[in-house]
Amino acid sequence: MFDKNFPLGMACDHAGFELKEYIKKELVSRGYEVKDYGTHSGESVDYPDYAHPLAADVSEGKIKAGILICGTGNGISMTANKHKDVRCALCWEPEIAKLARQHNDANILALPGRYISPEKALETVFVFLETGFEGGRHQRRIDKINL
Ligand code: RB5
Repeated sequence: MFDKNFPLGMACDHAGFELKEYIKKELVSRGYEVKDYGTHSGESVDYPDYAHPLAADVSEGKIKAGILICGTGNGISMTANKHKDVRCALCWEPEIAKLARQHNDANILALPGRYISPEKALETVFVFLETGFEGGRHQRRIDKINL
């Protein structure tokens, strides 16, 4: 569960721009503070230029969580997961987001902008934000992730 009082980061490439804008508007209308790392239009860009700054801020504890969107969700999650203590989970169903929080303590959600409806993406975002980590045996496994 992520506290509404902390800013939530959002970033995307051109393929995720429209979905980012839609989700951002819905989050802000529900009282979330959103820090937007771009991109700010549908013009073609390179996803690492947007994923790295957000993931660095999560890694350094400047923000607690983030949402990344590119066409498939793959490039942007691969980029984010290069950062220490970042656990970015690519999710296309609310149930996967729920398990990413409960079992993996994921701190970044990656969405496949070209392969998910806005409605399902929003549902997935809320499940991600509202589900807590279960700890226990899952903490032991997470402790083994960093190299
Ligand atoms: C952009 O065309 C596309 O390659 C990108 O959004 C993403 O899907 C990469 O993983």
